[in-house]
Amino acid sequence: MRFQASEAMKRLPTQFFSTLVGKVNHVIAQGHDVINLGQGNPDQPTPPHIVKALQVAAENPLHHKYPPFQGRQELKEAVAAWYEKERGVRVDPGDEVAILFGGKAGLVEISNIFLNPGDVCLVPDPGYPDYWSGVAMAGGKMEMMPLSAEKGFLPDFSRIERETARQAKLMFLNYPNNPTGAVASSAFIEEAVEYCLANDILLVHDYAYGAIGFDGQTPASFLSHPDMKQAGIEIYTLSKTYNMAGWRVGFAIGNDEVIHQINLYQDHYFVSLFGAVQMAAVEALSASQQCVHELVNLYEARRNALYRSLHRIGWQAKPTKGSFFAWLPVPEGFSSASFADVLLQEAHVVVAPGIGFGECGEGFVRAGLLVDEHRLEEAAARIHRMHIFK
Ligand SMILES: Cc1ncc(COP(=O)(O)O)c(C=O)c1O
Repeated sequence: MRFQASEAMKRLPTQFFSTLVGKVNHVIAQGHDVINLGQGNPDQPTPPHIVKALQVAAENPLHHKYPPFQGRQELKEAVAAWYEKERGVRVDPGDEVAILFGGKAGLVEISNIFLNPGDVCLVPDPGYPDYWSGVAMAGGKMEMMPLSAEKGFLPDFSRIERETARQAKLMFLNYPNNPTGAVASSAFIEEAVEYCLANDILLVHDYAYGAIGFDGQTPASFLSHPDMKQAGIEIYTLSKTYNMAGWRVGFAIGNDEVIHQINLYQDHYFVSLFGAVQMAAVEALSASQQCVHELVNLYEARRNALYRSLHRIGWQAKPTKGSFFAWLPVPEGFSSASFADVLLQEAHVVVAPGIGFGECGEGFVRAGLLVDEHRLEEAAARIHRMHIFK
């Protein structure tokens, strides 16, 4: 018997980076010492007080039962309290917070909830490829918003054609940005919120790296703009802030109608997260945020070490202001894919080719600050020995 997947499944984009993983594994299997800067997986463990909270909660039989359908009220209250204390933003935990199985699930769900086949969604290019997955499943049409170095990797709304803006139902933005490491100014946030309100576009701000800003700057939440709750939602996650990528805890915060639709959709798919994980998430958000400050300092020290070493070998690049990525221009004579290949084969250093994030990612590679300073310096030293940079 042959099984035919649905048309929606057939529309899913191919996972560009799975080919890269195959190549990396091949080089590792040959016995080489590979420095992997290609992925976005936090390398540090979850802080012990959060792990402890999970252990304690896992002993409680209450959490062995089904959790409440839309998640635990304590967790929504902890999210609201975190936003107020850390970002000065007030949200109603009852109507303006939804609990997600990680940010990724929410980002894909949102297209399924709001797009009909043929509807237009504005997507940053380069950008996080999971935005494409949801749009593809829903049968929506992506219109790319190019992010260029000259514009600080912020989209230029004046370049979006009037007809495209009229047709668009949804827009994804992401600051601090993956892959470029750019952050958004409050002037840009205002422009984005006003543009979406004027054009009736649901704005989804992906705030996955919201805790990771350098040089003393805390990246602003889009909810700090008073009209953001009318324009849309922000999606936040514990994955990066507390090294909890494996725990799968995320939130949608903002417009109550959008939150209601997310909850409705999820009622048909899931019975919220394991209650003990939710209690550990409460601990993460409510306890001292000292661990977050220490983590940001660690990434900043790594960023400084990487750029210092790259500048020393003649690879000129502007240090990123947030996220845990470096976005580096590819030298002449290479595409982003051929340069990533040559770095892997000759230096055994893995970077992610920019083209994997969209056409406008061509000309760059992304390096994660997810190994220690010594390994970052070692990566630069190996690249130096290739005599590509003078
Ligand atoms: C830009 C961006 N958004 C969202 C996510 C999803 O994070 P999670 O699903 O772990 O919450 C990631 C993860 O790498 C990301 O880079």
